[in-house]
Amino acid sequence: MFRSLVPALAGLAALGLAGAASAQDVKIGLILPMTGPSSTTGIQQQAAAKLFMQLNGSTVAGKKVELIVKDDTGNADITKRLAQELVVNDKVNVLMGFGLTPLALAVAPIATQAKVPQVVTAAATAIITEQSPYIARTSFTLPQATVPMAEWAFKNGIKSVVTLVTDYGPGIDAEKAFAERFAKDGGKVIESLRTPLRAPDFAPFLQRVKDAKPDAVFVFVPSGFGATFMKQFAERELDKAGIKLIATGDVTDDDQLNAMGDAALGVINTHHYSAAHNSPENKAFVDAFKKANNGMRPNFMAVGAYDGMQLVYKALEKTKGNADGTALIDAMKGLSWTSVRGPVTIDPQTRDIIQDIYIRKVEKVDGELYNVEFAKIEQVKDPVKAAKAP
Ligand code: PHB
Repeated sequence: MFRSLVPALAGLAALGLAGAASAQDVKIGLILPMTGPSSTTGIQQQAAAKLFMQLNGSTVAGKKVELIVKDDTGNADITKRLAQELVVNDKVNVLMGFGLTPLALAVAPIATQAKVPQVVTAAATAIITEQSPYIARTSFTLPQATVPMAEWAFKNGIKSVVTLVTDYGPGIDAEKAFAERFAKDGGKVIESLRTPLRAPDFAPFLQRVKDAKPDAVFVFVPSGFGATFMKQFAERELDKAGIKLIATGDVTDDDQLNAMGDAALGVINTHHYSAAHNSPENKAFVDAFKKANNGMRPNFMAVGAYDGMQLVYKALEKTKGNADGTALIDAMKGLSWTSVRGPVTIDPQTRDIIQDIYIRKVEKVDGELYNVEFAKIEQVKDPVKAAKAP
């Protein structure tokens, strides 16, 4: 049996067919912060991308999909070098991941030059998709999540707010979006505080919030920093001083929420995904994710990567397996599907994701803390780009 196989393989190789078969594979270079301060994002996104392939198979439109995962540690110079290596040496068809805004921005020129789609599954500053025509995004934008929070706050009796955000792209987006919408409705932002991204100590900022005596403090910190924030918030007893906490769902992140304790109870926040989202698709996803990852609860980062894979698979189906970069990014425009977060569409104009934004309250369900959705704003586009559209 061996004897007959060996010459057959040798014959294939001589014709160049054996090589051609592997060259036809579709390679996805997934660059994530697997270590460092944003490692929770990397861990959640890698687990979700792998789960997607486990549940949907590794072949689509006749092409074998290969996932190559690289750890950039959250350092933009490393992200850039890894992206270059993946394009030049591994000849990847898609670059995916990008746990923080500066990491996504560092790769945009490479995507443009190499004509390789860059699927941003985590970073969420509004301008990212404008940095290359090859970028599509499956996460969200901060203005998309924040405007509904400002709207809800004013309608529910909050008239004065201090904003407290991490001092870089997404935080500044959140600060601006909140202030603009809140002022438009008649509310007043009495102070705008920004905390450093690296090793933040929230205590002095929380003291300033306490001294300013607003009705509420609106907070954005990136995924992975919510537990530290919540601990310091509880220690300062802002709740006892009558100051409400409102936030984007990055603060009450499902990855850390259950460990935050009762200080998080009652926090109103807005976001695009909760592990408690009530749909059959989400129940199946949460169960499968926990089962494959020692009980770890998926957060919105996991869903960004799961949908990133979904987007590549759907685009490949649409191109009938043509993995040319320009064909793939064109195919991504306008694609719709039922995500575990709800219905989504890749905006054909901006390549950002159009999705429902939910208003949620942290509650105890069966002894665990969850963001329980109680209202939704349907099919929200990034408001910054929507305002610019002709
Ligand atoms: C970002 O850096 O763009 C970012 C990171 C984590 C978040 C949101 C935005 O939760």
